[in-house]
Amino acid sequence: MPAILAATVAEVRAALADFRRRGQLVGLVPTMGALHAGHAALIERARRECGCMAVSIFVNPIQFDRREDYEAYAIRLPDDVALCESLGTDVIFAPAAEEMYPAPQSVFVEVAGLTDHLCGRFRPGHFRGVATVVAKLFHIVAPHRAYFGEKDAQQLAVIQRMVADLNMPVEIVPVATVRDPDGLAVSSRNRRLSPEERRAAPALFQALQAAAQAVASGARSAAEAKAAALAVLEACPEIRVEYLEVVDPATMAPVEQISGPVRIAAAVWLGATRLIDNLYCPAVAR
Ligand code: PAJ
Repeated sequence: MPAILAATVAEVRAALADFRRRGQLVGLVPTMGALHAGHAALIERARRECGCMAVSIFVNPIQFDRREDYEAYAIRLPDDVALCESLGTDVIFAPAAEEMYPAPQSVFVEVAGLTDHLCGRFRPGHFRGVATVVAKLFHIVAPHRAYFGEKDAQQLAVIQRMVADLNMPVEIVPVATVRDPDGLAVSSRNRRLSPEERRAAPALFQALQAAAQAVASGARSAAEAKAAALAVLEACPEIRVEYLEVVDPATMAPVEQISGPVRIAAAVWLGATRLIDNLYCPAVAR
């Protein structure tokens, strides 16, 4: 079925109004395009749960901390539209930057605390840009449900907090990370890896698994879990670690002692490509 392709706020609102009149539940999958199997998992879940399923495709300039990263972000709209249609998308909202930001934005959503750690520490302004554009998308689309990947666990936590603190009437649905068979989390950035870098990249997930294994077998200090992960990463000369932390899943703040569930999160560089991943570790009876 062809999807309705909307480029303006007025068009997407008009397209959704028809579904709303028929009492359909509206689901939104926000993306920056260059769609892959990770996005497809969100879209498939939304398709199963919602009578009307919308995908937004918008490379959001205000969430990039490096201009060259924004410029290098290649979306391929015809491929993305084809994938969305093959997965039964009803409405695709693909606005130009001037449609989303007709004038310089002066209202921003800042989620304090949660963004002090992990990617927030290394990418100043990133989560402010993410929260602001997602708030705008929620106001434009007014979805009942919106779908986000656990691959970006800090982003998911930021959105959940924004929705709670600002009483936004939308249910946030987390979706598990989709991985390649060798464990590497699927990401549009993986396409930028050289063959050697791609061969080294699964060490990121293996390192997280080593830390999770240490926690499962009783490690009580974050230092012990981190040492297990770092041993894996240090064996890979191609990999430079930006951060590797054991954090409280609710606050994203690093912990020293492990006394409940934790999330192990890391960002690494392979050449000029930055990859992130994380793994949830349930509480272990001690
Ligand atoms: P983007 O990187 O395109 O990701 C869109 C959604 O897909 C996010 O919720 C992300 O967590 C999810 N996703 C990406 N890779 C995944 C994987 N391997 N498994 C499961 N889910 C995955 O994240 C953004 O765009 C932007 O910041 C956005 C929220 C759209 C705001 O601009």
